[in-house]
Amino acid sequence: MNTRFLGNSGVRVSELCFGAMTFGGKGYWTGIGQVQQKEADELVGMAIDGGINFFDTADVYSEGLSEQILGKALGKKRKDIVLATKVRGRTGPGPNDVGLSRRHIVDSCNASLMRLGTDYIDLYQVHSFDPRTPLEETLRALDDLVRGGKVRYIGASNFAGWQLMKALAISERQNLERFVTLQAFYSLIARDLENELVPLSLDQGLGILPWSPLGGGFLTGKYRRGRPRPQGARRSDPANQFLQFDEEKGFDIVDELERIASNHRATITQAALNFLLRKPGVTSVIIGAKTNEQLGDTLKTADWEMAPEEVSRLDELSRPPRAYPYWMLEGMARDR
Ligand SMILES: NC(=O)c1ccc[n+]([C@@H]2O[C@H](COP(=O)([O-])OP(=O)(O)OC[C@H]3O[C@@H](n4cnc5c(N)ncnc54)[C@H](OP(=O)(O)O)[C@@H]3O)[C@@H](O)[C@H]2O)c1
Repeated sequence: MNTRFLGNSGVRVSELCFGAMTFGGKGYWTGIGQVQQKEADELVGMAIDGGINFFDTADVYSEGLSEQILGKALGKKRKDIVLATKVRGRTGPGPNDVGLSRRHIVDSCNASLMRLGTDYIDLYQVHSFDPRTPLEETLRALDDLVRGGKVRYIGASNFAGWQLMKALAISERQNLERFVTLQAFYSLIARDLENELVPLSLDQGLGILPWSPLGGGFLTGKYRRGRPRPQGARRSDPANQFLQFDEEKGFDIVDELERIASNHRATITQAALNFLLRKPGVTSVIIGAKTNEQLGDTLKTADWEMAPEEVSRLDELSRPPRAYPYWMLEGMARDR
């Protein structure tokens, strides 16, 4: 599997990252996955054998169980892995058990290190913007963690363009560590990112890490127009979904993915992931899996490359409506 630089940093990661959100099965996360230690050991071993050196989790996934299971599954192999986790979500009932205050960041980092069974985190990401904590406080706390050796690189997730740009400017002005990555919802059924955050990431040298690249399993071919939905899958019940997108448009995209996949003797899943790997700014696509069969399929994405004309066809078909001022700026740019 190819490796790419993690944004502007000097560290290289595999172009597929294994996301451990399916590990644990506790609380809110039960519907996403209930992978226990034995199955997780197999999935992690398979991912590493397939060339993956980059793993992602978060302190909130299954209330800490995901980190614990992932840390154990990595075991001695951890030293060869670029390990990413996140902070920001609620970890307890107290008023300070949430957010990006110095207090919550430092406490959460220590708790994540314990659960992961490691003494450093390679990529520590803020899970989303915190409107109540000054960015200066957050960035200085993250900077201290880097100076102290507990964290090696920092990243952002789920930020608006202005929030991310403001954070980068503060880091620059105050000589603090700056984010090297943006982890964001990005796929053929969700290209809103291309309005503001992709150009920003290209301009600022951030590596984009798409999350839910299959739209929670939608872009695998098991959801088709006019056919019954699969049972026991994350999107089995369309009424109860965190990810909102236009399924009708999605069905057209799946049909085109099937045509492209057949040109390469590949699967719809591989084609959906392959498209993202061809997009500017993307460093590593974060995949999710509940079974060895799913992961086996996904890993083969790295074995072939989608042709530019196939990427263009999908680009056309999945193009989102252009919001203002982007359509106007695009028109003006053509005159320069
Ligand atoms: N920063 C954030 O806010 C954020 C948010 C979400 C996720 N993430 C990260 O992104 C990672 C991936 O997210 P995701 O799990 O939502 O990704 P996804 O790729 O959109 O969905 C993965 C799910 O699709 C199904 N699937 C995967 N491969 C398949 C295959 N070959 N055939 C059929 N079905 C298949 C499985 O679910 P079913 O079997 O249930 O269909 C699997 O759990 C997470 O682990 C996490 O690390 C981050």
